[in-house]
Amino acid sequence: MSENNIQGQKEERNWENLLRPGGFDEYIGQDLVKRSLGIILEAANKRKESIDHILFYGQAGLGKTTLAHIVAKETGGNLKITSGPAIEKTGDLAAILTNLEKGDILFIDEIHRLNRMIEEILYPAMENRSLNIVLGKGPSARTLSIELPPFSLIAATTRIDMLSGPLRSRFGGTFRLDYYSLSDIAEIIKRSAKILNVNIDSDAIKTIAEVSRFTPRTANRILKRARDLVQVKNEDTINKNCLKELFEVLEIDNLGLEYQDRRILSILKDQFGGGPAGIGAISSSLGEEKSVIESVYEPYLIKIGLIKRTPSGRALTDKGLEYAEKCSKNKK
Ligand code: ADE
Repeated sequence: MSENNIQGQKEERNWENLLRPGGFDEYIGQDLVKRSLGIILEAANKRKESIDHILFYGQAGLGKTTLAHIVAKETGGNLKITSGPAIEKTGDLAAILTNLEKGDILFIDEIHRLNRMIEEILYPAMENRSLNIVLGKGPSARTLSIELPPFSLIAATTRIDMLSGPLRSRFGGTFRLDYYSLSDIAEIIKRSAKILNVNIDSDAIKTIAEVSRFTPRTANRILKRARDLVQVKNEDTINKNCLKELFEVLEIDNLGLEYQDRRILSILKDQFGGGPAGIGAISSSLGEEKSVIESVYEPYLIKIGLIKRTPSGRALTDKGLEYAEKCSKNKK
């Protein structure tokens, strides 16, 4: 990865951290999840125990990591962050677990990408805080058992369907994060604009909310780009005119679809007669990994009813076909 890229990623994370709500009182939306978490936290606090292991699932950008930060803050524990793909060997996980301290919260993002052998190390660690390491091979192999301090695991996944039954069943609380309502997204935009110190009028708040894909991360990203544009144009308020120009350059349409989303629709229409088409075939035409299509593009296209999943692959709905036709006319 190039230096620039790493810098870019750091900046991306920095502004996410800046806008991340610091407590339940600042966290907008997901009311039922917040209430359940509140009960878990209060009960554990009264019993002076660490909280149950928690699993969050839902699309990217809906606030799974943010909730893990808030839970850690509320419990007063340190948050140690890692992810499924970052844990490559059983030794990596053993090192993470043996470095935990009493009351720590271990956050594993994208836990569905954890390899099955490594996953098996997690079971006894979650169940009775023991780390079992096999020493040697064959008849002389022995198992060394190490006791771990009381800790809680918070895991997040965009693909709950890819989690094994045994892993899923070891979480005391499993919570689905849903897409946000337009009014919650509007509140989030207002809050973020205040933190970013930029004026935005109510029409523009509504417009960004409408193209946000019901996702706070997307809403905040568009808000940031709009702030850049008013800065460059020496204007002082984000309004509809500014957004019109912004959406043109970012190629965002009224539904919040971007270039790659529209390409998926046109690939299904032009290359597969509307589908169904297998995810592998779509992936090679689009030049994007299957997992990215499945976790980034497809959920929203399904949510707004443009494509559907069938047993033989993905297909355009009637509405999707109509939209794809409209897009290809606009291109001509
Ligand atoms: N920023 C991102 N997600 C948020 C949320 N749920 N509430 C408030 N601000 C946010």
